Amino acid sequence: RSAKSLVLSRRSSSRSASGTAMASSMRKVAILGAAGGIGQPLALLLKMNPFVTNLALYDIANTPGVAADLSHINTSIQVAGYAGDDQLGDALAGCDLVIIPAGVPRKPGMTRDDLFEINAGIVKTLVTACGEHCPNAVINIISNPVNSTVPIAAEVLKAKGVYDPKKVFGVTTLDIVRSNTFLAELKGFDVVETDVPVIGGHAGITILPLLSQATPMADYTAEEIEALTTRIQNAGTEVVEAKDGAGSATLSMAYAAARFAESCLRGMNGEPVFECAYVESSVVEGLDYFASKVKLGPRGAEEVFPVGDLTPFEEECLEKLKPELKSSIEKGIAFGQK
Ligand code: NAI
Repeated sequence: RSAKSLVLSRRSSSRSASGTAMASSMRKVAILGAAGGIGQPLALLLKMNPFVTNLALYDIANTPGVAADLSHINTSIQVAGYAGDDQLGDALAGCDLVIIPAGVPRKPGMTRDDLFEINAGIVKTLVTACGEHCPNAVINIISNPVNSTVPIAAEVLKAKGVYDPKKVFGVTTLDIVRSNTFLAELKGFDVVETDVPVIGGHAGITILPLLSQATPMADYTAEEIEALTTRIQNAGTEVVEAKDGAGSATLSMAYAAARFAESCLRGMNGEPVFECAYVESSVVEGLDYFASKVKLGPRGAEEVFPVGDLTPFEEECLEKLKPELKSSIEKGIAFGQK
């Protein structure tokens, strides 16, 4: 049976070379933070995903209920719930892919960096367990601040001697999803055919959409570019403010995480897939981690692509984001090494 995704129909940078593939491999996927705002709808989307065989739902509490609920859906994916430290090892054993949306979300007025104090420790604990129980798994980190939590994860895995830079990703897919939507709205494009590469990081001005490399090509006024770039950079805050204290993006994030997870799984199955993601990188001098286009394959990020030709405006944005991204990376590395 052809494994066409049930929910993630799309064209764009994530389009695979061959279009569809057989979901022939057995794949265990764990979600850590599975009872949360992102975790639950993400678990639902993955319960509908033909590239997944087993779904392990881990959280500090409430996962048995989420798992029981999802297990009644008549798709062939096996779902199990795991709650509390004692069960983390079982959740992770044999995993091919671990997705981490555990941690606190922003409230109005907060930056992603304000979450560091709580989320850094959570990510450190969870990735340490990944290093012990599924050292070969691909890890997708959603917990903010992504600009720092990915370096934390890398340091933790290095200390365990199991770090593979090709397998640790900060999930920035929501920035691409938002950019595609906003650009299509602005220019009247078919959103399914719209693709905006987004590079840099995942916080405020470190989010850099490359409208000059977007497809379809379009003419923009300087004002349009500036307004669209600012809207993309502040899109998360748009949701935080609209939710008025009840959290940040969860449904669009779950969609984006499910898309990125599927791309990782397609890559594992031998289908080359292209996505933008935040990874260890030598693309920009002085920044050890950077989001750019990557080619996903059986070994993870098999290729990290350069940023390509930038307009003077994009060059200027890149220069401006460097100090903030560098300091977030250094903060993560220092915490990871503690
Ligand atoms: P939430 O508070 O609704 O859910 C978080 C879940 O994590 C809760 O169920 C909580 O029990 C669980 N958790 C806390 N500590 C844990 C631990 N030690 N082990 C396992 N689970 C633990 O938050 P939400 O809205 O799901 O957001 C989660 C994270 O995702 C936040 O850090 C948020 O900033 C981030 N986020 C990232 C985005 C991105 O584009 N990368 C977009 C939106 C949110």
